[in-house]
Amino acid sequence: METLVFEDPSREDIGRAGEIIRDGGLVVFPTETVFGLGANALDSAAAKKIYEAKGRPSDNPLIVHLADPSQAGEYAFVTPEYEALAARFMPGPLTVIMKKKDAVPSAVTGGLDSVAVRVPLHPAAHALIAAAGVPIAAPSANLSGRPSPTGFAHVVQDMYGRVDAILGGEVDIGVESTIVSLVTERPCVLRPGKVTPDELREVLPDLTVSSAVIGKYEGVPLSPGMRYKHYAPRAAVTILDGDYEAIVRFLRGEPDAGKLCFDGDGDITAMPRALSYGGEGDPSEQAKHLFARLREFDEMPEITRIYARMPSSDGVGLAVVNRLLRAAGFNVIKL
Ligand code: TXA
Ligand code: MG
Repeated sequence: METLVFEDPSREDIGRAGEIIRDGGLVVFPTETVFGLGANALDSAAAKKIYEAKGRPSDNPLIVHLADPSQAGEYAFVTPEYEALAARFMPGPLTVIMKKKDAVPSAVTGGLDSVAVRVPLHPAAHALIAAAGVPIAAPSANLSGRPSPTGFAHVVQDMYGRVDAILGGEVDIGVESTIVSLVTERPCVLRPGKVTPDELREVLPDLTVSSAVIGKYEGVPLSPGMRYKHYAPRAAVTILDGDYEAIVRFLRGEPDAGKLCFDGDGDITAMPRALSYGGEGDPSEQAKHLFARLREFDEMPEITRIYARMPSSDGVGLAVVNRLLRAAGFNVIKL
């Protein structure tokens, strides 16, 4: 497939991309969280093309992106909880799951009777949805199983030749949106992100956090995406949890392994094949660089395993821990 590439899209380029969406095509676009792979959310055939382009199982539901929070009522049965979340956090990095209306084809929701709704803050994403004139169904624009794309080079690498157009732009947050379900018994965080549980509780005091966020879930997953191995680079990732000195000693015996550490970890950054991704106490910076670093290890052909220091799960750190645990397939060594 021929792919139009607009690294720094103009208004006209975004207008053209909007037409492509309306006509049933696929467009990669930047959002404030990660890049998305979009199609007309009201067109089953278009939504099916997304699964093909990603190589993703088609029972994994897609997020429906809207230009304005007030449009949710056309696609979902909105509740006072939604209104409260929308007033505080939308547009922004929050996705809300509600009971779906018939306007949303089941190809978009993976056959579920609920739908995930999000209103991106990124100006190019907003302009694209407005230009398309239809809601945009979009997962992250990575090939299934690979780390989510946070840079223009990542989407060109994964999606060139698989989509009709790619729009470039800057991503700010680096991990995907926080997902809150309103179809569970109590409002529940299914995936942590920039909007933290503490912030959400200011609006929804009885909010809970799914145990699947930092644990391996058992039984029927609330969010089908939790079932799949995620965010993984080619090399096997293991998380090292424990005392810094013990971790340094362990890593001295692993000269050939990739090492993912924090900016101030001088003993580790001095070792071969070490990459840092933010200060130990700076989860926002870690979130921003985590996926890019995992992809950098993929560019080092000699690496077959990667060891990563366990980050703190405070605040946005919960999202970093959640993504790293999935990249590692929950493989943690206590030191
Ligand atoms: O930041 C983001 O949310 C990015 C950008 C592009 O907006 N999108 C994104 O989409 O991360 P994706 O498809 O990679 O992740 C969506 C997650 C999946 O784990 C999926 O299972 C879950 O949302 N999901 C979607 N609809 C759902 C539903 N009705 N019920 C439960 N989980 C749902
Ligand atoms: Mg994804």
